[in-house]
Amino acid sequence: MVDTLGVAVVGFGWMGRVHTQAYARVLHHYPKLGLRPELVTVADEVPGRAEEAAGQFGFATAVRDWREVADDPRVRAVSITAPNFLHREIGVAMAEAGKHVWIEKPVGLTLADARAVADAVTTAGVQGAVGFNYRNAPAVESARQLIGSGAIGTVTHVRVRLFSDYAAHPEGALTWRYERERGGSGVLGDLASHGVDLARYLLGDIASLTADTAVFVPERARPTGATAGHLRASGGELGPVENEDYVNCLLRFDSGARGVLEACRVSVGEQNNYGFEVHGTKGAVFWDFRRMNELGVSRGDRYQDQPVSTVYVGPGEGEYGAFQPGSANAMGYDDLKVIEACRFLRSIAEGTAHGATLTDAVHSAAALEAMVRSAESGAWVDVHRAG
Ligand SMILES: NC(=O)c1ccc[n+]([C@@H]2O[C@H](COP(=O)([O-])OP(=O)(O)OC[C@H]3O[C@@H](n4cnc5c(N)ncnc54)[C@H](O)[C@@H]3O)[C@@H](O)[C@H]2O)c1
Repeated sequence: MVDTLGVAVVGFGWMGRVHTQAYARVLHHYPKLGLRPELVTVADEVPGRAEEAAGQFGFATAVRDWREVADDPRVRAVSITAPNFLHREIGVAMAEAGKHVWIEKPVGLTLADARAVADAVTTAGVQGAVGFNYRNAPAVESARQLIGSGAIGTVTHVRVRLFSDYAAHPEGALTWRYERERGGSGVLGDLASHGVDLARYLLGDIASLTADTAVFVPERARPTGATAGHLRASGGELGPVENEDYVNCLLRFDSGARGVLEACRVSVGEQNNYGFEVHGTKGAVFWDFRRMNELGVSRGDRYQDQPVSTVYVGPGEGEYGAFQPGSANAMGYDDLKVIEACRFLRSIAEGTAHGATLTDAVHSAAALEAMVRSAESGAWVDVHRAG
């Protein structure tokens, strides 16, 4: 007997679509989950967008105002995939209405926003999952296990990179992402938030950091109609880009390890170049999102000239076995969201958290806030005291 769980999606852009597809697929990959998500309602403020989503994916109803979702007793869990400036208001309202929330990173505009959603979820006693999907890659889980087992010795340093060209085109429209009021930070919230989560997932908490930021494309054309994703706009009125395109950051971890995190949204020639290199006293682990199911591993006792092997993750590593029967069959980005959906639903079914939570979002937001302060002052900033 499989119980059903009424779910809703608020904000039907790229992430709204991906969350919906994950709900639709989750039982295909996790037949023993014991909870069947039922697509109850979808909300989007753009006229017709929610109706179109309902027609394509089978939501029972479509609305324009997310408040109707909060008031809908059929809905027990909500995906919050609207722009960052709405995360706090919608997240708090949904938790207060007793709904479990699966909310996209960075969870609001600031550390205070992330904390407000986390507090509301705790007070309401509901589950709160966050879209830090890269930690769900089986190869990343495998890397974490390797590091934890001591296979590469004591971790000394890490490099985390997130380079993308999604904002590189000078005609890229001035959407909510480039405004302080609606996007908050720029590449910090968009990409560095993932980098902080990966760094913490692999190496533990960050103690302090120093950062530098820059805007490389200072003006963009305002879009003339509704937006979703990264569209182009040319010829329109120009407006200022209000948040950073680039960040580089030096990290000190509680463990004593050191790190470098660099993220850029305007890197010509870089498409989703996300990954890390973790070095230890006896070995190293390398991961590149573009070859998501491969892990570079150097281990042994040679120290110098030690070879690096390419390992294809397989069943038994992370959640790989839920997707493919044998190693070297590719998984993709959307599969990471199916894993996230599974962990969210499992958290609800068992009443205990699985996967990235709002606590992780608060940690990430604290590091981002420390980066902002450091970029302003030029000083090292203690992450634990940030905010
Ligand atoms: N985890 C990831 O890898 C990842 C990737 C991309 C985006 N994100 C996050 O997901 C969120 C959404 O990003 P996106 O790329 O899907 O953006 P998007 O612009 O493609 O979609 C946002 C959607 O929200 C809708 N919306 C705006 N105001 C609304 C309101 N008041 N009520 C209901 N709907 C409203 C818009 O009409 C649009 O359809 C952001 O917080 C972003 O940081 C996460």
